[in-house]
Amino acid sequence: MCAAHSPSKQFYLRVSRTKTSWTARRPSGTVTGVSAAPLRPAATQWYARPSARNWRCSAPPATAFDFHTALPGYLPTPLWELPALASELGVGRLMVKDESSRLGLPAFKALGVWWAAAHVVADRAGLTRPLTLDALCAATSRLSLTLVTATAGNHGRALARVAAQLGLRAHIFVPEATSPAAAMAIASEGATVTTVAGSYREAVEQAGRACAARPDAELVQDTAWPGYEAVPARIVEGYATLLHEVDAQLLDTGCRPPGLVVVPVGVGSLAQAVVGHYRSRKAKPPPAILGVEPAAAPCILESLTARELRTVPTGSTNMVGLNCGTPSSLAWPSLCAGLDAATTVHDQAATRAAADLERLGVSSGPSGAAALAGVRCALTGRGNAHRRSQLDVGSDSVVVLLSTEGSAAVGNDLAA
Ligand SMILES: Cc1ncc(COP(=O)(O)O)c(C=O)c1O
Repeated sequence: MCAAHSPSKQFYLRVSRTKTSWTARRPSGTVTGVSAAPLRPAATQWYARPSARNWRCSAPPATAFDFHTALPGYLPTPLWELPALASELGVGRLMVKDESSRLGLPAFKALGVWWAAAHVVADRAGLTRPLTLDALCAATSRLSLTLVTATAGNHGRALARVAAQLGLRAHIFVPEATSPAAAMAIASEGATVTTVAGSYREAVEQAGRACAARPDAELVQDTAWPGYEAVPARIVEGYATLLHEVDAQLLDTGCRPPGLVVVPVGVGSLAQAVVGHYRSRKAKPPPAILGVEPAAAPCILESLTARELRTVPTGSTNMVGLNCGTPSSLAWPSLCAGLDAATTVHDQAATRAAADLERLGVSSGPSGAAALAGVRCALTGRGNAHRRSQLDVGSDSVVVLLSTEGSAAVGNDLAA
């Protein structure tokens, strides 16, 4: 983008927030689009602490939104209304935030990466704020810098893409379970890819060590640990853009604010953005926020239940982006205080949810569709009346699912 930004910029579409309708109603397809068999949430876990809904925090900075909307190619992602799912779940309106195409990539991750990489460059080059792409590109032409990260797929591809667009190098560490196709997708963005003999956690450690040894390298990791929190904080600020879009899209269609927001969870950085967004406003009643993890990697649910940050052993799962064993240390305090519900889902349920969304016209991979699988566990099946009352969800509630990736996202070649 840096190299090409002047001549080609004029061809990108800029969208005015006020003039464009972002919300669409999918042809309902009634229940025909949705699998008929009721979900059996065998051995999924459930956590609820309704008092967390009343926890309040100060509003996170909204400056990332202005930066993102000025990027060439920026468009808000759609918010689809799916009446067939609303009727299946017994709620008033069901909206799906569709992140299958975000800044040219099939997952939401570029939002965090752009904002964090912009700050990394600005700090190195001594740029003043507010940040602009032109100033960043002028600065990178004078910098020798490699952006480094570990990834299960989507984050690494986004970092590789953004580094290339800024005219920087990228070095991406992937766990050994990463498929050759996923590694290729990252390498095709121009990055160096190193496979680590071990899990996501070991890949994070190796990326950190590689950076520590190189003054011309900077770690842009989407999880935090004590002593490494500034960059992940920027990533979380970047994710908030999709929530600002949801606010505007709901307003645009005359829809009430959500009563329940459902978010897929890996290390919890996206959920931290969701908690920060909804717990910093005066919405009455405040929405319930439900985090959904794979049954194979329930680090947030286990930590919430224990009321302390826990690492869990992880298994294999088709929800590749959610396969994380340790919560982000930065996300944990917000989630502990402000996340009022969490559940786990099995691979089969995520696969089914992705297929149902596909039939209703929304592209979603298993990690993104975990939101639908999770809300089904919460609002249907045995014990649902109790869970609905814990979430304060009724037949007129507005539910927003964050479908965080499309079926083409990195790693979904293993999902079948
Ligand atoms: C598609 C998708 N959804 C959700 C998440 C979860 O985000 P976090 O790790 O911040 O909880 C990820 C993480 O990589 C992801 O790739």
